[in-house]
Amino acid sequence: MSYKITINPSGRVFWMEASEAVLDAALREEGCALPYGCRSGTCGTCMAKLVAGEVAYPEGQPSALSAQDLAAGRVLPCQARPMSDLVLEAREIDAVRDLQVKTLPCRVVGMHKLAPDVMRLYLKLPATERLQFLAGQYIAILLRDGRRRDFSLANAPHADEYLEIHVRRVEGGEFTRYVFEDMRERAILRFQGPLGTFFLREDSQRPIIMIGGGTGFAPLKGMVEHAFHVGIGRPIHLYWGARARQDLYLHELPEAWLEKYPHFLYTPVLSDPQPEDQWDGRIGWVHEAVLDDYPDLSPFEVYMSGPPAMIIAAKKRFAEQGLPEEYLYYDAFDFSADSPAAGQGQTYP
Ligand code: FES
Repeated sequence: MSYKITINPSGRVFWMEASEAVLDAALREEGCALPYGCRSGTCGTCMAKLVAGEVAYPEGQPSALSAQDLAAGRVLPCQARPMSDLVLEAREIDAVRDLQVKTLPCRVVGMHKLAPDVMRLYLKLPATERLQFLAGQYIAILLRDGRRRDFSLANAPHADEYLEIHVRRVEGGEFTRYVFEDMRERAILRFQGPLGTFFLREDSQRPIIMIGGGTGFAPLKGMVEHAFHVGIGRPIHLYWGARARQDLYLHELPEAWLEKYPHFLYTPVLSDPQPEDQWDGRIGWVHEAVLDDYPDLSPFEVYMSGPPAMIIAAKKRFAEQGLPEEYLYYDAFDFSADSPAAGQGQTYP
């Protein structure tokens, strides 16, 4: 049986079954971002007021819900199941400033070498913690000597059991050397996040062009997966620029999306394909491919993630081809020797 859930003051309405928690259903709704922390009933971050209706807690009353909270009609959507139609009063997150930036330990629970110089790490938070973030944001790994290394989150917010980052090995990069040579599963790291304003704008109707250079694919992966999850039906055209075939380290993933989602397009572009690649796809600079395909960029919004040279070159040319400045969002990776993302993607002059 389905129940109608109304969230005030926004007036947002959705329907859900009693088999799942209200928060889980809400997070599947496009543009609906209720605040949360632990998703286990212990932190109280998701607390909302029940204006009408009835909820149940099949796993027992959550520890963050006191007798006073109950008496005041407060509920914890991360644990509450609807027993009737509900009207809830809850603050919705509509911008980065509403998200809580946390400093947390995490455990490396998965290390997968996706290319000779790209490692995918899965990070697990303590059992009572979840990180609420917007698709495309990043975290800063805190090193012992006080330095920080930034990595985009490659997972979508709904798939937050583990955080996923893509680490490219950088010549002279101490942290990335550690990841590739000495780090073992179960290693403990500390990070701060979520950070950054590079995230998918859900309140827009514009068709989307995404451009990733090298591991700049990571935040775009999170955005695309989020867009599919919440049912964003706008066209999405993803371009992924790399030097050679092996640098398209998750090529099969966008290819699989292509099969499944008719509103999704994928164009990989190599700047320096090797003979063994037997590449019959696009060759050149990735932003040039976009310019060739879209002579008029005025109706689009563009998300770019990659080395600064790519971003600088593309910004100027996209503006000349009609893209309004306010619809260009980008995340430029730093080129310093110890930056995790340096040297990735196509080598722009
Ligand atoms: Fe922590 Fe609901 S998210 S109590």
